[in-house]
Amino acid sequence: MSGHEPLGETGYLAAAGFADEVRAELGTVSAVHDRLIFAPGPPRLAAWAQNIWLDPVRIAIASVSDGVRALRGIQRNWALYSTGLHRRARLIQDGLPKISGRPLVFPAPLPRATMGPWTLLDAGAIVASARCSNPFPHGEMAFAENRHAPPNRAYLKLWELFTLIERRPAPGERCLDLGACPGGWSWVLHELGAHVVAVDKAPLAPAIAALPRIEFRRASAFGLDPATVGPVDWLFCDVICYPQRLWDLVQLWLMTGLARRMVCSIKFQGATDMDIQRRFAAVPGARLMHLHHNKHELTWLWSDRPL
Ligand SMILES: C[S@@+](CC[C@H](N)C(=O)[O-])C[C@H]1O[C@@H](n2cnc3c(N)ncnc32)[C@H](O)[C@@H]1O
Repeated sequence: MSGHEPLGETGYLAAAGFADEVRAELGTVSAVHDRLIFAPGPPRLAAWAQNIWLDPVRIAIASVSDGVRALRGIQRNWALYSTGLHRRARLIQDGLPKISGRPLVFPAPLPRATMGPWTLLDAGAIVASARCSNPFPHGEMAFAENRHAPPNRAYLKLWELFTLIERRPAPGERCLDLGACPGGWSWVLHELGAHVVAVDKAPLAPAIAALPRIEFRRASAFGLDPATVGPVDWLFCDVICYPQRLWDLVQLWLMTGLARRMVCSIKFQGATDMDIQRRFAAVPGARLMHLHHNKHELTWLWSDRPL
């Protein structure tokens, strides 16, 4: 982006409702525009950021058409995150090529086209990043939903995760689904051809319980002896519990070495517990992210080898 002034900062677009969490993760910040937060230097870990704007530049513009020209001159695809001067910003965006808003049909590959986020800071200045961490506008992945087979919308979290990491259980792999009821996640895993051991204190929806590769155990995830389950390719946990309880569960499974990969929802109540979040993030081989389909929760992904 020659001719444009690098900010020397990184932009973090917080997931809706979680700007305070991003600020807490970042510490020092240089500017805050609604959910868009800039901090000095290269990208840092910020699990609550839905999209990270890499190497943003400031572009001086004299008019709307100047703004259109400047952005078009860099690349084709741009997504406006409007922080003010909404009408003027919209006029610039309308002058740019349309970007596809077509929902993904799972399983689908990650889009390869570069998509850059931008904002109009004031009438004469655009801030834009040609590259960012998430290929969907503002990190908002949308799917063509299945409104018939899954018993709830929780399946969208796994669709999003598997799409983002470009990995998913293979046919024949063994999955443990803790806190499985009513069965959205088990349905996704079964659809992929996996064998599922589903555990919950409550029963699965009858249509899910009847699926051929789902074995249901009515039990507490916390009372379950890993030895009675044996080795699993993937352990999933979406149990509603305090993060500390999940931490103890994960430690137990790590100690046994019986799970090759784990995907767990860390569910927060009230103020987000940043200390325990940091503990989960620091486990070697772990990644922590906020999915667009997550609520006040983070998805913790761990693997015993690079995914
Ligand atoms: C958010 S729901 C899970 C939704 C599920 N992933 C799906 O896709 O349908 C949380 C589940 O945790 C279960 N749960 C709560 N405490 C549990 C425990 N100690 N052991 C097992 N399951 C538990 C609840 O019964 C509930 O079904």
